[in-house]
Amino acid sequence: MKSVDIDIKRFVLDEMNINYCKGCRECEKSLKCVQRDDMDILSEAIIESDFVLLASPSYWGDVTGQMKVFIDRSLPLCNAKTGITPVPEGKKGIAVAVRAGPSKAENQHIIDTFEHYFGHLGIKLAAQLTVESVDSLSDIQNNKDIIDEAYMIGQKIINS
Ligand SMILES: Cc1cc2nc3c(=O)[nH]c(=O)nc-3n(C[C@H](O)[C@H](O)[C@H](O)COP(=O)(O)O)c2cc1C
Repeated sequence: MKSVDIDIKRFVLDEMNINYCKGCRECEKSLKCVQRDDMDILSEAIIESDFVLLASPSYWGDVTGQMKVFIDRSLPLCNAKTGITPVPEGKKGIAVAVRAGPSKAENQHIIDTFEHYFGHLGIKLAAQLTVESVDSLSDIQNNKDIIDEAYMIGQKIINS
């Protein structure tokens, strides 16, 4: 993306202040969350972006707690109850899952969670990448095949 001058915003959920969803359902009336925190930044970024990439390591066979809170807090963007989403049409989603163990099935569960999330925002899952046997940053950095695959996915997406 960088090599073709696409503007990138990268967010690390663990470095952000995002409270739990309280389940008050106010957003189903107002399309806005009653809480003011860093979720405002992420909602705006999703609404403005052409591509949304979600990535999570597997924690206990699922997305991280931080990712789950982000997903829960995206209820104002969700079309399930209201039939509408404030997210403009035509966006593409990319889903990435990483895990320490060797099998793909556990990572596929994470990809399925992201596809479900994107679906309720009207975002089409355009690409996915799972990486197994990753327990440290160097496990990724030393895996040229995966770096190449990620690059190819990026190229395919921007050319589609
Ligand atoms: C709390 C916790 C739970 C984890 N659970 C799993 C798991 O269920 N399956 C697995 O393959 N790896 C599991 N891992 C390993 C991570 O998926 C793996 O180390 C990943 O590369 C960590 O990415 P991070 O450094 O961004 O947290 C777990 C790691 C942590 C810290």
